[in-house]
Amino acid sequence: MVKERVCVTGAGGYLGSWLVKLLLSRDYAVHGTVRQPGDEKYAHLNKLDKASENLKLLKAELLDYESLYSAIEGCSGVFHVASPLPLTAGANPEVELVEPAVKGTLNVLKACVEAKVKRVVVVSSVVAVALNPGWPKGQIKDESCWSDKEYCRTTKNWYPLSKTEAESEALEFAKSTGLDVVTVCPTLIFGPLLQPSVNASSMQLIKLLKDGIHLLGNKRTTIVDVRDVAEALILVYEKPEAVGRYICTAYSIKEHDLVDKLRTLYPNYNYPKSFTEAEDEILSSEKLQRLGWRYRLLEETLVDAIESYKKAGFLD
Ligand SMILES: NC(=O)c1ccc[n+]([C@@H]2O[C@H](COP(=O)([O-])OP(=O)(O)OC[C@H]3O[C@@H](n4cnc5c(N)ncnc54)[C@H](OP(=O)(O)O)[C@@H]3O)[C@@H](O)[C@H]2O)c1
Repeated sequence: MVKERVCVTGAGGYLGSWLVKLLLSRDYAVHGTVRQPGDEKYAHLNKLDKASENLKLLKAELLDYESLYSAIEGCSGVFHVASPLPLTAGANPEVELVEPAVKGTLNVLKACVEAKVKRVVVVSSVVAVALNPGWPKGQIKDESCWSDKEYCRTTKNWYPLSKTEAESEALEFAKSTGLDVVTVCPTLIFGPLLQPSVNASSMQLIKLLKDGIHLLGNKRTTIVDVRDVAEALILVYEKPEAVGRYICTAYSIKEHDLVDKLRTLYPNYNYPKSFTEAEDEILSSEKLQRLGWRYRLLEETLVDAIESYKKAGFLD
């Protein structure tokens, strides 16, 4: 028996695919939005357990309100995952990145009000938390820390700007309309791929294994498994007491130590040769853990990710 119907925007992406898989396994009926229904790149979704009964893929574009409303209508909950996260920067980032992220999020939220949706979970990012030069040095960054939009703009950090604006507008919208919105800010997401192509964060790990990078900044990287992020999204959706924003991160590890760990697991790749020191930052996922969130071992994330890249031929 189906539990309830929910909508996932960006169902065919890296995180969206895992979220759809987990929702189906928990007996949710899912409306997944995609931009090109029928395209081979979404074939994996139709092969998921229970997809034939409980998954419907619908065409929607973030800047097209009507398409979003059609996908959301009839759903009691929405997971807004879709946002541009390109592999390389385009020529016009304000139009290609910021506008779809911000206007798209507002379109989703307006459609949720019109469709009387009960709760919306918006996927934000650590980049909406951490780019804050005014934050006291050495102090742990928690949910009260916001990236500085002006700093993002002047330093041309367009993706962080897109996520910071989208998340802050979402929470403002919630305040002014009474819509129940919860946001989740994952750090760098690694783990196995379900979709047939490489997304931006997986590309970072592939480059570390393959590119023979000569010099790498030895900064602290914060990592979370894609399956644990999907769990976190469902947890904040289902727990009535969930409120506001949640940082979602599992491990904080120096690049040098990450490379050492990878080398122990897989000795034969072309790892970075040397490192320069870089500034550390510390983030906390305590709020999410208090809600009951748990995460798996980093080794499992790395091994499952690398095995999935090998299987797809991305490390050849
Ligand atoms: N990966 C990470 O490390 C990471 C970390 C923190 C937060 N996040 C956030 O997690 C979410 C998913 O990211 P991901 O890593 O799964 O990336 P991804 O694989 O590139 O997925 C992005 C999804 O957004 C959809 N999309 C992009 N622009 C759209 C538009 N204009 N209209 C409709 N759909 C659009 C894409 O749809 P198509 O399939 O149709 O192209 C795709 O499904 C994003 O909100 C991202 O900011 C990711």
